[in-house]
Amino acid sequence: MNVSQKKRISAKIQPPADKSISHRALLLNAIANGKAEIKNLLDSEDVRSTAHCLSTLGITIDWSQGKNVIIDGKGLHGFQSSGLQTFLDCGNSGTTMRLLSGILPAQSFTTTLGGDTSLQKRPMDRIINPLTLMSANIIGTPSSTAPLQITPSILRGIDYEMPIASAQVKSAILLAGLYTEETTTIIEPEPTRNHTELMLQSMGVKIKNSNNKIHIEPASEIDPISLTIPGDISSAAPWLVLGACHPNAEIYIEKVGVNSTRTGLLDILIRMGAQLEIENISAPESEQIANLSIRSSVLKSTIIEKEEIPRAIDELPLIALLGCYAEGKTIVRDAEELRVKESDRIESIVNTLRAMGAEIYTTKDGFVVEGGNSLKGSALDGKMDHRIGILAAIAGALVKDKTSVINDAVSISYPTFWNVLKNVAEVTE
Ligand code: S3P
Repeated sequence: MNVSQKKRISAKIQPPADKSISHRALLLNAIANGKAEIKNLLDSEDVRSTAHCLSTLGITIDWSQGKNVIIDGKGLHGFQSSGLQTFLDCGNSGTTMRLLSGILPAQSFTTTLGGDTSLQKRPMDRIINPLTLMSANIIGTPSSTAPLQITPSILRGIDYEMPIASAQVKSAILLAGLYTEETTTIIEPEPTRNHTELMLQSMGVKIKNSNNKIHIEPASEIDPISLTIPGDISSAAPWLVLGACHPNAEIYIEKVGVNSTRTGLLDILIRMGAQLEIENISAPESEQIANLSIRSSVLKSTIIEKEEIPRAIDELPLIALLGCYAEGKTIVRDAEELRVKESDRIESIVNTLRAMGAEIYTTKDGFVVEGGNSLKGSALDGKMDHRIGILAAIAGALVKDKTSVINDAVSISYPTFWNVLKNVAEVTE
């Protein structure tokens, strides 16, 4: 696809449903007792990977009403084997693989979890280690990567101090904790997204967070929960960054999930001087929702580190672009987790923006951008990492000459991305 700047942007955008909440709505309802209606489920490749794994495990998901699906939960132990050895293809989705790993050890049959070449390179010792402490039988390759083989076991509760801030790891342990006979306690180095905790709580599970320690009690059954998935703040992010950096823009973004464990980008935008307005409209079913509006802004640099990193982890590529348009040096540190995402995002961010003329360099745990250099059109490769594909396209939408983008992989989280981009940029095939 080719993209270049549109002179004036005035748009109203409804971002697609939250990817993290969509995965959880399917996975948690699959182990609940009975049917639930999930409205506005994200229909993207990653969520399809979760749905496909659940179908292989005997769970019926009715997609006949489009984005409003009905899922028929079969209870905590209700997954069914699909043969001698059940193979589950998690595609590109780390969330699918890691969360399922918390549920599968307590089922009565052996499963193998596989994924695409990117997912097969991602570290799985982060779940293998705590789940093994819980007595799970989970084996990866010698380098602790997928495929993972999980055989049935009797799980026990643990007290676990997580070495890294990861909501996927936390969720795997919490889900396994349902199947034990003891309380499981998790200490996080920094708070991470808490969608699993909120959803489990509304399903009747005894779970509480006190002073950053999360305690979960075992359960014999959980209630299904019907819900409407809010818009994904990570998919609102491209429009927020485009609006703030573009010289003549006004963008209104509707019904975005603003759970405080996810709103690092909003805090960063405000700190950098962006003309951002947040209009809180409601708090349905525990996940808060707001409308956002952004206008062309004069931006100043900032430092992003420590507890802000997990709250903005998937937005850091776009934050690098903000840094290019801000006066001064923007520094991101404590973000080594970026190196083990769908690509090594520290390298991908720097390569992408450098190709456009940005002054940016990598550090061990982040990057440094010197703002104020104007960017130029370029031929960019998203390397099949959706957050990098989207970064490349939005950077292209900010410059007058043409940028081409290949391997954008936007269908992982935002299948309609290019269509929406046509309203706010010049786009050709
Ligand atoms: C996610 C958690 C984060 C995030 C990912 C989705 C989740 O990953 O980057 O896109 O849904 O739990 P980590 O848990 O590895 O930090």
